[in-house]
Amino acid sequence: MKILLTGGTGFIGSHTAVAMAQSGHEVILFDNFCNSDCSVLDRLQSILGFRPAFEEGDIRDEKRLKEVLQTYRPEAVVHFAGLKAVGESVQKPLEYYDNNICGTVTLLRAMQQTGIKKIIFSSSATVYGMPQYLPLDEGHPLSVTNPYGRTKLQIEEILSDLCASDPQWSAICLRYFNPIGAHESGLIGENPRGIPNNLLPYVARVAAGQLQAVQVFGNDYDTPDGTGVRDYIHVMDLADGHVRAAQYSQTHRGWIAINLGTGVGYSVLDIIHAYEKACGHPIAYRITERRPGDVASNWANPQRAFELLGWKARYTLEDMCRDSWRFQQNCR
Ligand code: NAD
Ligand code: WQD
Repeated sequence: MKILLTGGTGFIGSHTAVAMAQSGHEVILFDNFCNSDCSVLDRLQSILGFRPAFEEGDIRDEKRLKEVLQTYRPEAVVHFAGLKAVGESVQKPLEYYDNNICGTVTLLRAMQQTGIKKIIFSSSATVYGMPQYLPLDEGHPLSVTNPYGRTKLQIEEILSDLCASDPQWSAICLRYFNPIGAHESGLIGENPRGIPNNLLPYVARVAAGQLQAVQVFGNDYDTPDGTGVRDYIHVMDLADGHVRAAQYSQTHRGWIAINLGTGVGYSVLDIIHAYEKACGHPIAYRITERRPGDVASNWANPQRAFELLGWKARYTLEDMCRDSWRFQQNCR
């Protein structure tokens, strides 16, 4: 298939570009570099042996999008482009609504006008809000606690309305749990600007001596060791989930949500200890207050992804930490 990846030079987009290209699909990357840079394209060239097609642009620019869609005529769009920092979304809600929601509506309009009606959307387990039961399946009630999460939920609803209005549309909302790790080459990975908000990039920088100690946000949760439990998934497993979703979209019509998680939860301390093994030295940490808005535990029921896509996570926590550390050592 020929597939356009919005946000294709970002963390998940770049890994998915590798998996798609290596599965024989033709990819076109589209990005405005607001949270990535063009060096990713050189790195993708080193991994793939060729430079993937790239078009610079903003998903809020309908004219530019139509130009790109008309030039390449992709069969489907995988839509990663968006802002993703929960804390920032509370400070700057309008930026999040404009970029994520207005950007998606603009993209959908451009797709509709060019007759491209298959979209795979980067949704998030954040749409489940406070878990009422575990593991989280796709039928779990939805709720959100911050503007970022609200953009994901509203985009899911917009996609559902669009599919209801026109039976030719296929919208697959992939609800990611906690993507971590990096491509095994160590050439691409997650390298956030400034101090990381998420656990893994923070741990990686402490391991590399760039930050002093991990702050463990609370050890009094109702979990085996008192620290928060999450379903961490290797980004290459996630990438493979997109390859399978693209294949599925060839025959699928209508709207569907599918979890991409491993079905297994690990605590903050599990992560720190697994990373210590990967990097070969102790990682300093200290217990601090809980972070407002955090839930004690969440992990996926990944059964639907297995049944519909034949997809199952294969990488272990050890693999995730090893690959993250390899990338971290390359980005000093
Ligand atoms: P990322 O920031 O690394 O990648 C997003 C890419 O989109 C960046 O390259 C950025 O430059 C680009 N972009 C943003 N706004 C754009 C715009 N208006 N026009 C064109 N390009 C634009 O983030 P990621 O971790 O790769 O996440 C990809 C998607 O997955 C996002 O939609 C995110 O919300 C979602 N998601 C991420 C996680 C996670 O933990 N990383 C979890 C669940 C869902
Ligand atoms: C994981 C665990 C923290 C940092 C976020 C978004 C979610 C999704 C994935 C996009 C928690 C603890 C963290 C630190 C810590 N993104 N922690 N010290 O919060 O599960 O999910 O990213 O859709 O929407 O909310 O991920 O990596 O921030 O936290 O102790 O410095 O690590 O309390 O238990 P989270 P995270």
